[in-house]
Amino acid sequence: GGLRTWTLRTWSSENLEKLLVLTVATEETDGYLRFMQSANYFNYTIKVLGMGEEWRGGDVGRSIGGGQKVRLLKEAMEALTDQEDLVVLSVDSYDLIFAGGPEEILRKFQEANHKVLFAADGLIWPDKRLQEKYPSVRSGKRFLNSGGIIGYAPYVNKIVAQWNLHENDDDQLFYTKIYLDSFQRENLNIGLDHKSQIFQNLNGAIDEVLLKFGTKSARVRNTVYDTLPVVIHGNANTKMYLNYLGNYIPNAWNYERGCGVCDHNMVDLSQLKEYPTVMVGVFIEQPTPFLSQFFQRLVTLDYPKDKLNVFVHNNEVYHERHIQRFWEESKDVFNSFKVVGPEENLSQGQARNMGMGLCRKDPGCDFYLSMDTDVMLTNRQTLKLLIEQNRKIIGPLVTRHGKLWSNFWGALSLDGYYARSEDYIDIVQSKRVGVWNIPYMAHIYLIKGEVLRNQLKERNHFVLEKLDPDMALCRHARELTNHREKDSPNPETFHMLRVPKGMFMYITNRHEFGRLISTANFNTSHYNSDLWQIFENPVDWKEKYIHPNYTRIFTENYLEEPCPDVFWFPVFTERACDELVEEMEHYGSWSGGNHEDKRITGGYETVPTDDIHMKQIGYDKEWLHFIREFISPVTLKVFSGYYTKGYAVMNFVVKYTPGRQAYLRPHHDSSTFTINVALNSKGTDFQGGGCRFHRYNCSVDSPRKGWSFMHPGRLTHLHEGLPTTNGTRYIAVSFIDP
Ligand SMILES: *[C@@H]1O[C@H](CO)[C@@H](O)[C@H](O)[C@H]1NC(C)=O
Ligand SMILES: *[C@@H]1O[C@H](CO)[C@@H](O)[C@H](O)[C@H]1NC(C)=O
Ligand SMILES: *[C@@H]1O[C@H](CO)[C@@H](O)[C@H](O)[C@H]1NC(C)=O
Ligand SMILES: *[C@@H]1O[C@H](CO)[C@@H](O)[C@H](O)[C@H]1NC(C)=O
Ligand SMILES: *[C@@H]1O[C@H](CO)[C@@H](O)[C@H](O)[C@H]1NC(C)=O
Ligand SMILES: *[C@@H]1O[C@H](CO)[C@@H](O)[C@H](O)[C@H]1NC(C)=O
Repeated sequence: GGLRTWTLRTWSSENLEKLLVLTVATEETDGYLRFMQSANYFNYTIKVLGMGEEWRGGDVGRSIGGGQKVRLLKEAMEALTDQEDLVVLSVDSYDLIFAGGPEEILRKFQEANHKVLFAADGLIWPDKRLQEKYPSVRSGKRFLNSGGIIGYAPYVNKIVAQWNLHENDDDQLFYTKIYLDSFQRENLNIGLDHKSQIFQNLNGAIDEVLLKFGTKSARVRNTVYDTLPVVIHGNANTKMYLNYLGNYIPNAWNYERGCGVCDHNMVDLSQLKEYPTVMVGVFIEQPTPFLSQFFQRLVTLDYPKDKLNVFVHNNEVYHERHIQRFWEESKDVFNSFKVVGPEENLSQGQARNMGMGLCRKDPGCDFYLSMDTDVMLTNRQTLKLLIEQNRKIIGPLVTRHGKLWSNFWGALSLDGYYARSEDYIDIVQSKRVGVWNIPYMAHIYLIKGEVLRNQLKERNHFVLEKLDPDMALCRHARELTNHREKDSPNPETFHMLRVPKGMFMYITNRHEFGRLISTANFNTSHYNSDLWQIFENPVDWKEKYIHPNYTRIFTENYLEEPCPDVFWFPVFTERACDELVEEMEHYGSWSGGNHEDKRITGGYETVPTDDIHMKQIGYDKEWLHFIREFISPVTLKVFSGYYTKGYAVMNFVVKYTPGRQAYLRPHHDSSTFTINVALNSKGTDFQGGGCRFHRYNCSVDSPRKGWSFMHPGRLTHLHEGLPTTNGTRYIAVSFIDP
């Protein structure tokens, strides 16, 4: 009973005379589907045994077991005894890939000159005492491995017909005893595939194999025996290595054609009546720069917002005002919006469990998208693209700008931490593009709701030993777990119900999705701390603070010359202006515009302004860097041939207001050239203001917020600050190359 058949192709007599693959699988795990995909690619004829049966063969890989497999094979073979010419290949499926086709296997089997051939192993299992009984070999693997059997049907039948043991007895021991019985070995002409002509077990042999690319497909070369094995078996602890090989073999990826399987099983969102409902878990587990940009990107994702439910865990008091602002602006944008703040004192693992749980317990939740706030999604299509890829767990590749740092690992070390895979750099740099089965990912990933309600239905995936929460999740998803059923129908025996997870996790780099920002060195003791991020996160700093039309200065000559040698160009965003003013007002110690000034050498200022120096707020290093990065190139453009050192001692924000200081009398600056950036808007924030250059009888009286003047400091450009008649005007000034 229990024999189910799934035929991949039409069951023709021609196939019957050739090769029939028999495999045992009780569930359609990801590994099983991968096996089927490789078999399908080579047009194998397959019979699956045991599908839908409860697994009773024990915890294979950790302890003995597997008897259920022999029993199922025995039942299947009984129906095939009259097939004299049929060659059967019995293999596992969860951790196995075909690297070649049936003709190649049959040829190699015939060349081996045995009636039955088993896979061979360098390690003896499960009974080491049997070692002396093994025939010695001059080279090659000496011991039997039952993960692969190939033989003529009547001979295989004679072997498995001897099975009369229990479901959880060990299959390998059973076959080993038959092989070690020299009468049976010779009579049935049983051999081992010592040199991996057909079977490559990876356990203990990872160093022997190399990935080898062909024009159509990729395969594995065994470099010790110089063979090209066909059946690649990730036995014991080599499943992750098999996953790596499976990213290429047989047709998943190669250099000529790129990804061969990326378009399999895609979902076309435009064909759905309704977009799936997504629970978005947002995690602020440490102070994170550019949080408002993160939220902005969330709001501008190209996805119907009424299909998004947002859960935010904020662990940082510092960020409460940012979330408050976002909540006020955007709470009604989403279908629902829930925040759990620092007062709840949740651990990271608890918070992640909570977010995931919200999707799990809601049958209407189709997907769970987990995002840490250090992920800057620049691709508005990200969520759609991930959903369309249709995997159980998938993350978009995001990398730290200009670094090899990313949100996935290509391999794990033996102790479960980072190891660099052969392909890691190529994937990060998108030299290899595809959808990659990887052992660990973090920061952002999408999980199907149905997976949370089935394979990942336990509630506590983020807490495991002392692992980071994300590492705990990945380990839970990857590993096969066994549950001892307490209410087993047969309490005498340990009844192991196998809940196969062994889930594949994917990272895709088929598109550019965004980047990871650095949360290191984020000093939150300032009022607008992002301003200080120019060194740590230069790309995000530029995006937030540099005027969007700045680059057009160079491409389209986007600048003006309102007075001779006075250049006027956009440099700061409104946000930059606002934050700088806020920062200064938060600091609050305006100089008052006195001649006596302890902040400068000599202690006397001839043309004093009411100001705060960048140095006073600890912003001098950052400001000078800004000058070198963004002002120097403009200088070179407008004063051609002049190479600025980009050095300045006097960098300050000036405040003009009628009640205190409203104007500045005509003066020269102690600079080669000066920049003067307007930090707020005439008309809305103040009246009056502007700058007048005497030699040319020329004034600019409508300064533009975020735009800077650049003019020579001495000799030709005697200038004055025109009176601010109402409100408060702020400018940022630097005397460059004094
Ligand atoms: C499998 O069969 C199909 C259809 O007959 C054929 O086009 C394809 O080339 C075969 N694949 C291989 C690897 O032989
Ligand atoms: C927060 O939780 C930690 C660890 O559970 C505990 O040590 C700490 O006392 C808690 N703090 C507050 C304010 O409850
Ligand atoms: C953070 O900034 C404050 C204020 O400028 C400064 O006093 C402090 O030393 C800085 N901390 C670090 C770790 O740089
Ligand atoms: C950039 O320039 C374009 C065209 O001149 C203008 O429409 C746009 O408003 C400018 N952007 C900003 C932020 O000023
Ligand atoms: C300066 O310009 C104004 C108007 O632009 C003009 O009325 C005035 O005569 C000029 N002064 C001199 C000294 O050229
Ligand atoms: C000065 O500004 C205030 C507020 O910005 C406004 O109410 C007032 O009318 C302004 N006065 C003049 C003379 O423009």
